[in-house]
Amino acid sequence: MKQEYRLISSTPKPFVKWAGGKRQLLPVIANHVPKFERYFEPFLGGGAVFFSLVSQERRVKWFVSDLNSDLVLSYVTIRDRVKELISALELHSAYYSKNASSYYYKIRESNPKGQIDKVSKLIFLNKTCFNGLYRVNSKGKFNVPLGKYVNPNIVNKENLLAVSEILQSKEISIKCQDFERALKNASSGDFVYLDPPYQPVSETANFTSYTGKDFGYEDQERLFAKFKALDKKGVKVLLSNSKSDEIIELFDEFSDGIIEINANRFINSVSRKELATLNF
Ligand SMILES: C[S@@+](CC[C@H](N)C(=O)[O-])C[C@H]1O[C@@H](n2cnc3c(N)ncnc32)[C@H](O)[C@@H]1O
Repeated sequence: MKQEYRLISSTPKPFVKWAGGKRQLLPVIANHVPKFERYFEPFLGGGAVFFSLVSQERRVKWFVSDLNSDLVLSYVTIRDRVKELISALELHSAYYSKNASSYYYKIRESNPKGQIDKVSKLIFLNKTCFNGLYRVNSKGKFNVPLGKYVNPNIVNKENLLAVSEILQSKEISIKCQDFERALKNASSGDFVYLDPPYQPVSETANFTSYTGKDFGYEDQERLFAKFKALDKKGVKVLLSNSKSDEIIELFDEFSDGIIEINANRFINSVSRKELATLNF
């Protein structure tokens, strides 16, 4: 396959560590990115693949989205109000350095209403919580304990400014929506990268808690139907998922396009196999 894009990992980078983030798999994914004029990524998360691609000078339109409204608000805030956000994070950092534990739990329990307070809370908790993991319970409440960091980088000013600049300078649509809605207008020649919450490979390995609503097997079926519909329209699609029996069976008709990848996942620090499925 002809490689048209180089994935680079220089700034801007993801501003949060995200469960299932694709930073470590960028070199593998890079080999499977086709030429495109419009890019869709409806399970954006930390945006590792998006940031790598958007950093390159190309006349491309970008449609990125995620169902996690706090995460999407963070992108929008970094784009529009980055200086105020940096000031708020500097305050968090100062209080945290006085008494990490009591400040962490105070902020975790807080319920801010303003945009800057909400987003600075998300980034602060992401930088200081255990494993840098975003996880919410069924009520949508963030429930991760304090992490063991000596000197967490709560305010990565340089990267926040770089992210802000790129989000302002390119033609990028950022929305909070379900993946099906996000892909309604994808058409022939577009490239779609799908990185959904993975189908669990076992009962004990089920991380799907990115939003208050779990991504169940019916959602994987919905995603497969969308994959097929996009394929029919001539859209180029690359999809990541776990190497689980359900996914292998579900995508059986695309088995020629399935690639197996070795991945080290930080959530429970095990090495396991993942799949990438493509239709081009
Ligand atoms: C595996 S993560 C994406 C990780 C991302 N590729 C990265 O590098 O950080 C999956 C994302 O899908 C989002 N999500 C869950 N259900 C969704 C849905 N129905 N529609 C759109 N996004 C959804 C989650 O909020 C989460 O951010």
